[in-house]
Amino acid sequence: MREIALHLLDIAENSVAAGATHIEILVDEDFKNDRLKIVIRDNGNGMDQEMLAHVTNPFVTSRTTRKVGLGLPLFKAAAEACNGYFTIESTIGQGTRVEAEFQYSHIDRMPLGDLAGTMLHLVIGQPEVHWLFHYQAYNKAFTFDDGPIKEELKGVSLTEPAILAFLREMLEEGVEQVQRVSFVL
Ligand SMILES: Nc1ncnc2c1ncn2[C@@H]1O[C@H](COP(=O)(O)OP(=O)(O)OP(=O)(O)O)[C@@H](O)[C@H]1O
Ligand SMILES: [Mg+2]
Repeated sequence: MREIALHLLDIAENSVAAGATHIEILVDEDFKNDRLKIVIRDNGNGMDQEMLAHVTNPFVTSRTTRKVGLGLPLFKAAAEACNGYFTIESTIGQGTRVEAEFQYSHIDRMPLGDLAGTMLHLVIGQPEVHWLFHYQAYNKAFTFDDGPIKEELKGVSLTEPAILAFLREMLEEGVEQVQRVSFVL
């Protein structure tokens, strides 16, 4: 994969598949320490220790359509190739937490990609999930929590054109604001 955002999509889809109702995504561009940190946390079914121990091995998957699961191994390999690391913690019945760190300036580090578009896709595609997205760079931060928005909408579909446009604008502006300021610094 060529972009961090595409990895996020894949990891978050694992959380959805695990029945999570609450999924948090953190993206932290820590220029000062030259690190990029990504965390995805869910309250899904989790995995037992045996599965967890093998989950970054591409021949382990609970998919029935094919035998190879690549999402986690690829993300791990990408982080490790950039002077970074990958960790996964999981508890059956409680949830899973995936963390990856990259050297920010590493020549092989993928660009972030379309964070706003990815979040919009997840929020619209999985409206029954409570999504929390936190994006920070140096001293700027943007938090998107779809909980209060959905409460306000009282069941109106998120794919309603006006709502969709509102969500898109909110995400794009938030992401852009973090990026605009960080490049000035
Ligand atoms: N957040 C999670 N909660 C519970 N189980 C998970 C979670 N993430 C991954 N898993 C388990 O680990 C397996 C491997 O995940 P991985 O993303 O590497 O591959 P996959 O989703 O099976 O296939 P692919 O991502 O290539 O389409 C999954 O099939 C699933 O059983
Ligand atoms: Mg996957």
